[in-house]
Amino acid sequence: MPNDAPAAHGNARVVLETEGLTRHFGHIVAVDRLDLRVHAGEVHGFLGPNGSGKSTTAGMVLGLIEPTAGQVRIFGQELHGASRELRRNIGAIVEAPAFYPYLSGRDNLKALAMAWGGVSEGRIDELLEQVGLTERAGSAFKTYSMGMKQRLGIASTLLTDPALVILDEPTNGLDPAGQREVRELIPRLAAEGRGVLLASHLLYEVQQVCDRVTIIQRGKVLESGTVTGLLERGSFIEVAVDDLTTATNILEALSFVESVTRENGRLAVAAPADSGAAINRALAEQGIFASTIVPHMNTLEDVFLDVTEHEDGDTQRTAEAS
Ligand SMILES: Nc1ncnc2c1ncn2[C@@H]1O[C@H](COP(=O)(O)OP(=O)(O)OP(=O)(O)O)[C@@H](O)[C@H]1O
Ligand SMILES: [Mg+2]
Repeated sequence: MPNDAPAAHGNARVVLETEGLTRHFGHIVAVDRLDLRVHAGEVHGFLGPNGSGKSTTAGMVLGLIEPTAGQVRIFGQELHGASRELRRNIGAIVEAPAFYPYLSGRDNLKALAMAWGGVSEGRIDELLEQVGLTERAGSAFKTYSMGMKQRLGIASTLLTDPALVILDEPTNGLDPAGQREVRELIPRLAAEGRGVLLASHLLYEVQQVCDRVTIIQRGKVLESGTVTGLLERGSFIEVAVDDLTTATNILEALSFVESVTRENGRLAVAAPADSGAAINRALAEQGIFASTIVPHMNTLEDVFLDVTEHEDGDTQRTAEAS
């Protein structure tokens, strides 16, 4: 891990920063002047329709794909021509991890540790424990379930104790139990002070484990922010009363109410999700009694579809057009 401990959330260290990151494939612009920041201690969701440039970005961060323009900085250091030491500090699953089928899980980790050098035997046992594979550590890799294989993959990314972990669809192809096993590991990586970049199409999963998300399309950032902030946007409280006009006037006067609109004979009150009781009291004090007060929270899926709906998924912006 890097020397200085991650600071409290909010002003935590930036572990990954891209600036103007761009990649063309011929006339296709896969990644288009992308600015992205991942902090220590956070799980950062990286969302976008198929072909929007997530894996290409991951590839550039890992130094596997050369950027056409722009920069990748890891802990403030430019990645270009970076040292092996810097690369050690990035763990990644970018596709189904490759292991020797006839070797056990433990021996596969040992082989990788040997290749890295400087990884203790104790570290391997610790990681097997962390991903819940201690009991099956001696079984051949080919006998593992998909979920176990993927968990071994996560253990392998942590061998060098990296401060940045990149997971590109880590639960792809797993059944619900396997998805949960992997999903539950992810917040722990961040709790240990790592920055985690998680590309996924499972928005429910992302909503559960991510602190912040960046939504991209055609290689460009459409939205970036905290999950809570994104979910609150467009959320509203449904209020049913007899006298809509009086209720509207009362509610519009409340400082925490942003707006009141009528929908299907009810009121849609734009206000913080936890303000139901305050709304109830304000109405009751004026002799109006609501028959229904229901908060409607957005899901990440609502937000995602809303910000990406006006665009075609796979259509690419071409270099000539941009
Ligand atoms: N090696 C390559 N050669 C040519 N085009 C490529 C190459 N790699 C990616 N692309 C194109 O770049 C664009 C972005 O692809 P990328 O794989 O980064 O998207 P993604 O967001 O990871 O998609 P998915 O959600 O389907 O995994 C796509 O149009 C893709 O066809
Ligand atoms: Mg991809």
